[in-house]
Amino acid sequence: MYLGLDIGTSSVKGVLIDEKQKIVASASAALSVSRPHPGWSEQAPEDWWKACGKAVKALARQKPKAIAQVEGIGLSGQQHGATLLGKDDKVLRPAILWNDARSFAECRDIEEREPRARKIAGNIPLAGFTAPKLVWVKKHEPRVFDSVKKVLLPKDYVRLRMTGEYASDMSDSSGTFWLDIEKRAWSDELLEATDMSRDQMPKLFEGTDATGRLTTQVAKSWGMPKLPVVAGGGGDNPAAACGIGAVKPGEAFVSLGTSGVLFVSNERFMPNAARAVHAFCHAVPDTWHQMGVILSAAASLEWLAGLLKIPAPKLTAALGKTLSGPSSALFLPYLSGERTPVADAQIRGLVMGLGHETDAKTLTHAVLDGVAFAFRDSLEALRAAGTTVERVTAVGGGSRSELWLKIIATALDLTVDVPADGDFGGAFGAARLGLIAATGENFRKVCTPPRIAKSIKPEAKAREAYEHAYERYVQIYPAIREI
Ligand code: XUL
Repeated sequence: MYLGLDIGTSSVKGVLIDEKQKIVASASAALSVSRPHPGWSEQAPEDWWKACGKAVKALARQKPKAIAQVEGIGLSGQQHGATLLGKDDKVLRPAILWNDARSFAECRDIEEREPRARKIAGNIPLAGFTAPKLVWVKKHEPRVFDSVKKVLLPKDYVRLRMTGEYASDMSDSSGTFWLDIEKRAWSDELLEATDMSRDQMPKLFEGTDATGRLTTQVAKSWGMPKLPVVAGGGGDNPAAACGIGAVKPGEAFVSLGTSGVLFVSNERFMPNAARAVHAFCHAVPDTWHQMGVILSAAASLEWLAGLLKIPAPKLTAALGKTLSGPSSALFLPYLSGERTPVADAQIRGLVMGLGHETDAKTLTHAVLDGVAFAFRDSLEALRAAGTTVERVTAVGGGSRSELWLKIIATALDLTVDVPADGDFGGAFGAARLGLIAATGENFRKVCTPPRIAKSIKPEAKAREAYEHAYERYVQIYPAIREI
């Protein structure tokens, strides 16, 4: 048996699989986010640890015999979060999360101090990443900064509690802005640009490597007498890619969660920092990946649903199933700023083209289109770095709307594949990484794609109109940025 644990933002999820990768049980334990100031987003690391315990206990209740057979565990987690540890691994302050926007000025500080930062990192420093958060802490909480002995990503803090090891994997470490991503090693230049040093970093592993074993104490409390090995694992997006089988070059998925991600696997490092492409290491060896990240994807539809007091599924159902063209209104989904392609934490959204005839349906359609155009922006940014994408697999809650997938297929001019029933979050991919670390299996054999239930093609009769609408969409941001 193998266990995948995903330390998400809203819950910790556990998935138990057998040696044939069949899901035997899954369970989750909720987490809440604290927002002490607008734009801030924090969690207590202790809550992650408690939620892991709860999720494992829930699995054990369902399958007590199976839990006792666990031989490998993989970890997946929300990326970029800064967990600051002092003497004796004491947590110095609440962890600052990936969707915390406080450190946008510090991104500029890093580039001023190390003008080659983009070149070395192959990425643009973004407020969501870990390094600018530490620059913020140095500026605003200098005593905390001076006490920092180690900085760990969320899943790696959980690993420390599980194994006693300071370890991370290449994919998650890529999101810190301290990694030389091409070389898969910490960068002294980038660390120095933020007054950090190598001894404050965990040891690096591939996601498929074993980083240690569960301590006897945790093994006892979790009911796992075989002292399972703990794999490097991955950031939640690369771990999800292992779950959906996106490990070969060009294999891609589009995730319609709170945030949206267009993920493509690459055989080499393919950066495009100028357009805020996230060019990172994959969770499997000798492989890299690119992501375009949209901060408000399903969150945009949720915003409209809240405003109109109509649940999101009802809003989309009202649009029917056929697509004749784009909405007459254009929506820019920058409700909490945007990462790819504009890297702008301060910009906000917009609806253009309101008329007396604009109703809830028009607005809903505009929101679905706007998110699809944001994905198209990401696709163009990835393509400009030399990537070829032929089709994408859709995952995440938003992918339950077939119309939204049709709009995305049409705006991207790509076929969108919908997997047959299954679980394609980070936890399943992490369980696969746990299996690989425990058995030494080849990752290409393990990380295979799921059965596809249906393939959604671009709507031919709406393609040209969508192309024109996208041409208008791309002109909005440059026109409003200064205002
Ligand atoms: C990716 C990112 C988010 C988090 C969500 O860069 O910040 O997708 O990983 O958990």
